[in-house]
Amino acid sequence: MKDDFIIDEWKVIEDGFKPASNRVSESIFSLGNGRMGLRGNFEEHFSGNSLQGNYIGGIYYADHVQLDHTKGNRPQQVVKFLNAPNWIGISISFDGEVLDLDNCQVQSFRRELDLRKGYLERTFVAKMKSGRKVQVSTRRFCSMADQELGAIRYTITPLDFDSTLTVQPYLDADVSNEDADENQKFWVEVDTKVKRRGGYLLTETKKTFFQVCTAMKFSIFRDEKELDFDSYRLHREKYIGCEVDMGCKKGETITICKYASIVTSLDHPDGDLPRIGKKIVKKALKKGFDQLSGEHAKAWKDKWSSSDVTIDGDPAAQQAIRFNIFQLHQAYNGRDSRMSIASRGFTGEKYGGCTFWDAEAYGLPFFLATTPADVSRNLLQYRANHLGKAIENAEKLGFNKGAAFYPMVTINGEEAHHSWEVTLEEIHRNGAIAYAIFEYIRYTGDEAYLAEGGLEVLIAIARFWAQRVHYSERREAYVIHGVTGPNEYENNINNNWYTNYIAKWCLEYTLSAVEYVKSKHKKWFEKLSKKLKFEENAETSEWQKIAKKLYLKEDKKLGIFVQQDTFLDKELTTVADLKKGQLPLYQNWTWDRILRSVYLKQADVLQGIYAFEEAFDQEQIRRNYEFYEARTVHESPLSPCVHSILAARIGLEEQAYEFYRQSARTDLDDQLGDTAAGLHINAMGASWLCLVKGLGGMRISNTGGLSFAPILPKSWKNYTFRIQYRGQLLQVKVSSKQLILVNHSQKTLHLKVYDKEVKLEGGKKEKLDR
Ligand code: BGC
Repeated sequence: MKDDFIIDEWKVIEDGFKPASNRVSESIFSLGNGRMGLRGNFEEHFSGNSLQGNYIGGIYYADHVQLDHTKGNRPQQVVKFLNAPNWIGISISFDGEVLDLDNCQVQSFRRELDLRKGYLERTFVAKMKSGRKVQVSTRRFCSMADQELGAIRYTITPLDFDSTLTVQPYLDADVSNEDADENQKFWVEVDTKVKRRGGYLLTETKKTFFQVCTAMKFSIFRDEKELDFDSYRLHREKYIGCEVDMGCKKGETITICKYASIVTSLDHPDGDLPRIGKKIVKKALKKGFDQLSGEHAKAWKDKWSSSDVTIDGDPAAQQAIRFNIFQLHQAYNGRDSRMSIASRGFTGEKYGGCTFWDAEAYGLPFFLATTPADVSRNLLQYRANHLGKAIENAEKLGFNKGAAFYPMVTINGEEAHHSWEVTLEEIHRNGAIAYAIFEYIRYTGDEAYLAEGGLEVLIAIARFWAQRVHYSERREAYVIHGVTGPNEYENNINNNWYTNYIAKWCLEYTLSAVEYVKSKHKKWFEKLSKKLKFEENAETSEWQKIAKKLYLKEDKKLGIFVQQDTFLDKELTTVADLKKGQLPLYQNWTWDRILRSVYLKQADVLQGIYAFEEAFDQEQIRRNYEFYEARTVHESPLSPCVHSILAARIGLEEQAYEFYRQSARTDLDDQLGDTAAGLHINAMGASWLCLVKGLGGMRISNTGGLSFAPILPKSWKNYTFRIQYRGQLLQVKVSSKQLILVNHSQKTLHLKVYDKEVKLEGGKKEKLDR
């Protein structure tokens, strides 16, 4: 474990100014509300090492890519989200000397992220070049109570001098992405207004024509007394500011409260944006920082009441899981089906704000269990909205008859990646999207979803698999060639066990979904069949035939399922055979060597066993776990999760706990060395899974039954987690001798604990021996 951040159960604290690792800290101290977010940048000018980042969900740009056309059929344009107008800026100067920590001797510096109440605080004392000492303390939040609002309270005290203080709150849309070409700008100014106490900037994205209006208002206090002030209004292209000069004596405190609204054409008609934006900040100014902050904290309280996890006896693990839960809520709020979980949330530019398969595979389970069902349903709806584009995408690649091939990396339904081994080969993402439908229904019991959209997606995905397989005479089975599994340390392999398994399962699940909708929602089924030109008999019998004979390679001698056709021909070394200093492989080995090796970025077979656990017995799980764990280097932050869950299942309690630790502190310890580019949001979902499904042993059976089989790591006294299950809130506390279940809802809950039936009445607590 690194010790960059002080351990605290409800906070992440950085003590001391660390310019070299500032970008990592900026990611860690990101704030967001599921609709927008920003990195932990400073409000005042900073010329040091920093990645300025403000992002708004659903606002993107289509960038041109240079391609090697010999491998055809890959996107010419890829979308990525944009660095949005910066709303936090407040320039500070004393008698013309600009406050910039890069030019100061920083005498004390502390950043604190308050996870409980959702704000970021920063305090410092700095000696400026002139030798004058100033103290600053700031607090800000991105409101959870009002998705379109952010607020800052910025306090300055000259410690040993009198001067003319100039404060200049501003809005700046003259921003770009760091990965953009030189001078490449994405924003055009449409309209601005700047007044004494604020103003707005109306901007539009080039090519994609999204409009964003960023408005601000501010007030200034001297020692808590509000000041009346005049300001010098600044306007240059894509920038407005209000410059206020005032005398400021040694020891006096000047506070600026700045409110910003961020409204977009995604939610409002273009012409109305300035009016709406101004109205929001006017109201905010009236309410004031403390009231807004209270409303925001209340919204966080509600989130924590259904998703908190407590760990007694291990503060580092406690901090990590709360930090991860906090960041998951900041990345996604499920209110808008045009958004999904971006793999780095709103915390950095890496992966361009795009969604990958892990949103469904590792993000969804967290939201399913801790938020109302409509949040997860919107995550599914996001993909349903993109069905047309997935069908087009499949057509471009030669598929037909309504087969859908979802993009591996996307914001708007179009493929946003351009390497063939990802876009063309990681076809397993189609499986994750179908599995999400199954998982949502299994968890919530909302079977009507099949009729209301689920089946349409499933049929399109089943059609894809039916065309993507081919029949091998030699094997007398259907095979799938030329794929990359979730394990990206092998490309262009044949019969990846996980891909084949999920393809077979998709076909079978779609068959059962067809039966269900046909019998329960006949009219709707007929309508859908017509729309999709569904040739029920011919298509379903083909799916049955393929599912029955889909090739799944097994090695009877080793007692394992085989990663892919030629995997066992490799040199079957293990991680323990690697010489010191070779890990991580992606930094120390050439790519061809990684691809030829037996080492797995993450273990596909175990991924499949985890997803379809009921189909395997304990012995099968154990043998596969032992074989593949020995060869997995866990160079994807998603990887430890499945190992933790399966290790717990087969009684390897220590390993289950170790994988949990590894998974939970991925970003706090910057384990992969790329946290500076943004946080690994879905890996945070994975760490929650390690705790609840791994240590807590929670399962939802295929028929929807809830069960637990918890273990307690040796160093912990106890831990507690909360889940919402079919509208009911359940708290589970695991201690060394007991399991305490509290049903916080009205209705009786039926569940199983270590295979024993438990009936838990509404409002009741049940103590069970472990
Ligand atoms: C992983 C993918 C994942 C992506 C985005 C990659 O490193 O291998 O499985 O979808 O990151 O999180």
